[in-house]
Amino acid sequence: MDRIVIRGGKPLHGTIPIGGAKNAALPLMAAALLTDETLSLSNLPHLADISSMANLLVELGVDLGMNGHAPNGGHAGRTFDLGCPNIKSTTAPYDLVRKMRASVLVLGPLVARHGVARVSLPGGCAIGTRPVDLHLTALEQMGAEIELTQGYIEARAPQGLKGGKIMFPVVTVGGTENILMAATLAEGETVLGNAAREPEVIDLAECLVAMGAKIDGIGTDTLRIQGVDSLHGAHHTVVPDRIETGSYAIAAAITGGNLLLEGTRLDLIGSLADTLRKAGVEITEESGGLRVARMNGLHGVDMMTEPYPGFPTDMQAQAMALMATAEGASMITETIFENRFMHVPELCRMGADINVHGASAIVRGVGQLSGAPVMATDLRASMSLVLAGLAAGGETEINRVYHLDRGYERLEDKLSACGALIERVKGA
Ligand code: EPZ
Repeated sequence: MDRIVIRGGKPLHGTIPIGGAKNAALPLMAAALLTDETLSLSNLPHLADISSMANLLVELGVDLGMNGHAPNGGHAGRTFDLGCPNIKSTTAPYDLVRKMRASVLVLGPLVARHGVARVSLPGGCAIGTRPVDLHLTALEQMGAEIELTQGYIEARAPQGLKGGKIMFPVVTVGGTENILMAATLAEGETVLGNAAREPEVIDLAECLVAMGAKIDGIGTDTLRIQGVDSLHGAHHTVVPDRIETGSYAIAAAITGGNLLLEGTRLDLIGSLADTLRKAGVEITEESGGLRVARMNGLHGVDMMTEPYPGFPTDMQAQAMALMATAEGASMITETIFENRFMHVPELCRMGADINVHGASAIVRGVGQLSGAPVMATDLRASMSLVLAGLAAGGETEINRVYHLDRGYERLEDKLSACGALIERVKGA
């Protein structure tokens, strides 16, 4: 297995291009199942999860055409043309869903367009049990019959889905996306209350509108969708990745460096930017992106994860690495997932002083971390170890790097171009 080896302690200086958002791209790709015309998506990141979704869609009958690259160095911004004149299979098999939970996002589009879907029930994952009950209850409220058999969700709506009033008891990003897609082809009006407002949900809604969907309330917690008979093809550019943006903002902060994060926007990271500024990080908008720099010391700031526009759970682990090096204490509370502190023991192996009490971690800054061999447990936890390694004295070796490949495109290239001493060591 590959490892990443970092020799820390170098302030990062330079420019890092920010790619399209993985978590926007995945539902956008699933939306191709809603139409028999071509959906063209550009600014897609080159990531393992995108390939997994592409494999699943091809299995379901999508013709996938890959087109060139964006002008910026030939790396970022692939374009996919996704055409699905006929759905050939309505089964999302265990092997594909097991690899990537977001595969469940094909459920809504398949039932809406084809009246039937068989999707493997995603299991839990390292960060929590992650049920999909809210997706299923909402589909039932729209008239689908749902059965769980032999590890599969079997959904049927032979007469088509019907609109209705759905109130999500908790904010669910994937649930909102799945039901939003389904509602575009349902009969009548669907109202989604307590809907997720994440930028990735907005991006999906805007793409669906370009495909002919009728959606009001985009960006609010109440989405009103008037069902239409069919959707058509469209071209859509994926929104910049706010978690990649935030992760590299912390790379600048934790190393005392100065980075231009190219192609991204401040409004996507509002609550994170507020927190970083309170900690002593400078963030300014520039033409072409965001500049993030730290000249002086860092101080501890409390934070609590919440649905957007609150502080994102996908930035909690990286922010904890930063707070581990700050002056003073920080209380970090995780309210979205029940097991998202797996990075704590690994950070402690690097000299961090962190105590977990239930859903909160008390981080007492230690100033300087020290390199150590550590184990990545999930995507964002892995990034927190990379960030800790960039700041630490000596060598950090991160194992189970495949987690990083799911969400950070060309990580070593982007960081080493800004002065980091980081390399991937190929494993047996
Ligand atoms: C999305 O997951 C993201 N994944 C996650 O990013 C992100 O952490 C999460 O939203 C929260 O922002 C993608 O977009 C592909 P949820 P999702 O449904 O949609 C509970 C990353 O690192 N819940 O908003 O699966 C659930 O258990 C990943 O890129 C139910 O109880 O998250 C959780 O506690 C990790 N029943 C909370 O709601 C349901 O039916 C929020 O989950 C659905 C969710």
